[in-house]
Amino acid sequence: MKLFLDTGNSDEIRTASAWGQIDGVTTNPSLIAKERTSFKELILEICHLVEGPVSVEALAPDFEGMMREAREYAGWASNVVIKLPLTIEGLKAARACKVAEIRTNITLCFSANQALLAARAGASFVSPFVGRVDDEGWDGMKLIEEIIQIYANYDFDTEILVASVRHPLHVTEAAKLGADVCTMPLKILKQLYHHPLTDVGIEKFMKDWEGQRQLVR
Ligand code: E4P
Repeated sequence: MKLFLDTGNSDEIRTASAWGQIDGVTTNPSLIAKERTSFKELILEICHLVEGPVSVEALAPDFEGMMREAREYAGWASNVVIKLPLTIEGLKAARACKVAEIRTNITLCFSANQALLAARAGASFVSPFVGRVDDEGWDGMKLIEEIIQIYANYDFDTEILVASVRHPLHVTEAAKLGADVCTMPLKILKQLYHHPLTDVGIEKFMKDWEGQRQLVR
């Protein structure tokens, strides 16, 4: 499973890239709005920092506007992927982007039927938001299971990108189900490395080592 970082912060991307575990980045308008750099400069910087796909969201509500943004942002760097909302206009734009050879990530997906439509529109990625589904009292990971089954039935090429990840268990479940990608904030990526027994084990090895070294000195 590929791991993407869900952020608009270039320092976070630098940190995670240095760990060698990042295959791409997802941004969204809320994440970009937290940063103080101009939109274009920030996207160019992020695209330079990672080799993999960088999702950049189009904000226009209509097909023409989305296509204008898609053409512009896709021209900024070869790894830009255009994020489009799961609406009639968004999926029309996804189809047109496919013809124009612009990669797309269909965002704000909350149902299996929406994911079916995204794949039929030729999206490169679909982003089901598992955390937001859980927040409403449904089962986000059940949604991933359904989408994986539907995509396998018809051999769709669209990659399933598990988004709105809130805790490490979401990552484990996504990997167990065989999702293509999981995007997460830096905090969760960091949590994946940690286990209290690893820390206790390191501490004990160091203590034993030091004790033994005192004796042979
Ligand atoms: C993914 O592409 C989105 O940017 C993100 O995962 C949304 O997460 P949130 O529900 O925590 O805002």
